[in-house]
Amino acid sequence: MISKCLFPVAGYGTRFLPATKSMPKEMLPVVNKPLVQYGVEEALGAGLSEIGFVTGRGKRAIADHFDVSYELEHQIAGSSKEDYLASIRDVMAKGSFSFTRQREMRGLGDAILNGRRLIGDQPFGVVLSDDLCVADEGVLSQMVKLYKQFRCSIVAVQEVPKEDISKFGVIAGKQIKDGLYQVDNMVEKPEPEDAPSNLAIIGRYILTPDIFEIIENTPPGKNNEVQLTDALLTQAKNGCVLAYKFKGRRFDCGSVAGFVNATNYVYENLYTQD
Ligand code: UTP
Repeated sequence: MISKCLFPVAGYGTRFLPATKSMPKEMLPVVNKPLVQYGVEEALGAGLSEIGFVTGRGKRAIADHFDVSYELEHQIAGSSKEDYLASIRDVMAKGSFSFTRQREMRGLGDAILNGRRLIGDQPFGVVLSDDLCVADEGVLSQMVKLYKQFRCSIVAVQEVPKEDISKFGVIAGKQIKDGLYQVDNMVEKPEPEDAPSNLAIIGRYILTPDIFEIIENTPPGKNNEVQLTDALLTQAKNGCVLAYKFKGRRFDCGSVAGFVNATNYVYENLYTQD
């Protein structure tokens, strides 16, 4: 029922300079796999096989990653080295990949709006691939199940300490069952004293398509960017937005410390190739 997933990957990744000067942040490898591939694998695992990227200048390596590399493949054909391509070949076989560009960095809301022509008029997933999620059942899978039950936009949230809250969009809401809240307030990057709760939005969303028109009518907010959080608050007030405390772990790979933690965790727990 939900078949599409949008990956906004137009950001500059300034926290990772100089590594991200000419290379997209989403191509940083956690052990031997680029961040964006983890996100795409999670989407495919949730049954979202039509993958749309909202890219920007300097992001062509992402498109190349999901395409055939003839020279390389020809060179290693028939050798044991081909095994190293197994995971990306699997991803390429299962998914379809489309691209559009965000010309100016006008915020996450604007990036999503740019993806409208890739999505059309249907509910869709959103993955911010710098948030690497590790869970027994993929976080998007968990959210798709909820969507089938509730049929409204869903944001993934986690509890964060007060001193970190101003890095996130923060929700407040009525708990409707264990770990699930009906959102009645949302603030982007609040000061700790203004945060409506300790529940921070992380980079996984299911959005209903009415969000596009709402974003069109959402003026720039915090940092003069069109904030998805502001559009979601409008959606919550007009209808329903749920916040879901997902099961699993999340690493903020947009920050150096989070990236190092993710690398250690993946190497110790998930990496299998010799
Ligand atoms: P971030 O706030 O992490 O920004 O964006 P960033 O530019 O990627 O990284 P820093 O803060 O400069 O280090 C959150 C997500 O939204 C996307 C980014 O690619 C990232 O996945 N984004 C943000 C866009 O696609 N377009 C925008 O205009 C803003």
